[in-house]
Amino acid sequence: MIYGGLLYFSQVKKQLPIGIFDSGIGGLTVASALRKELPNESIIYYGDTVHLPYGEKPSKSVREYALGISKFLVDYPCKAIVIACNTASAVAFDFVRETHPDVPIFNVIDPVVNAINPAEKAVIGVIGTRTTIRSAVYEKKLRARYPEMEVHSMATPLLAHMIEEGFFQNKISETVLHKYLADPLLNKVDQLILGCTHYPLIEGEIRAFYGDRVRVLNSAELVAKSVKTSVVDLGLASDQHDLLDHFLVSEYTKSFEQSARFFFGEAIHLESRNIW
Ligand code: DGL
Repeated sequence: MIYGGLLYFSQVKKQLPIGIFDSGIGGLTVASALRKELPNESIIYYGDTVHLPYGEKPSKSVREYALGISKFLVDYPCKAIVIACNTASAVAFDFVRETHPDVPIFNVIDPVVNAINPAEKAVIGVIGTRTTIRSAVYEKKLRARYPEMEVHSMATPLLAHMIEEGFFQNKISETVLHKYLADPLLNKVDQLILGCTHYPLIEGEIRAFYGDRVRVLNSAELVAKSVKTSVVDLGLASDQHDLLDHFLVSEYTKSFEQSARFFFGEAIHLESRNIW
């Protein structure tokens, strides 16, 4: 009887959605990669557009936002949480994990660090928001493994904002991006970490700038693969996609709606829900 109850409980748990959040549309790159890796999973996505951009906020504030959204998603209930934002992963991951020890919590930084090629003389570049770069999270994690590794990090604060407003794959985005990538600090890099989940949306432009010279690491696909491995290993993988995906924003924006439709199709269910 107890066994039957446990079996029922674990079946119900498997069918719960995975909660994903970011400040805005950036985490949709991760959600969409996750959809491809785990087609049976339902997704609850929270875009905290009221507080965008996280990358310009003090760490303490980003921590509060991340804890608030995680609580909302755990109570939903979700079976696992993906912090699909480098800024929140950099300054809030440990806090979220300690607050919810029974729920698997994933960040977007570790899978990328794991994918770095530690070849001799490797020069790693990192671009991200001001708060992510100030946290030095990538340097710390990379140097903990490879103490001699040369890591050059640069804040590119206009990019997330520009992408969130729909400026990508056009002249404006190309000019801004080229100005950043031409910085002498990034001259010698041979692997570039896109340290913000908004950046996969301009990955094509970044690759075009460098040609074959630089290996560009896109966190969305790496994170999706790593979440898949963990969800399967933990016995939490869903057998069938029976719940609808649900997209929530703390404040409605046209660009969020357009991006969510771009990634997940016209029929998405989008709702404004200010949890603050
Ligand atoms: N997409 C987020 C990140 O990965 C945050 C961008 C922002 O809100 O500044 O850092």
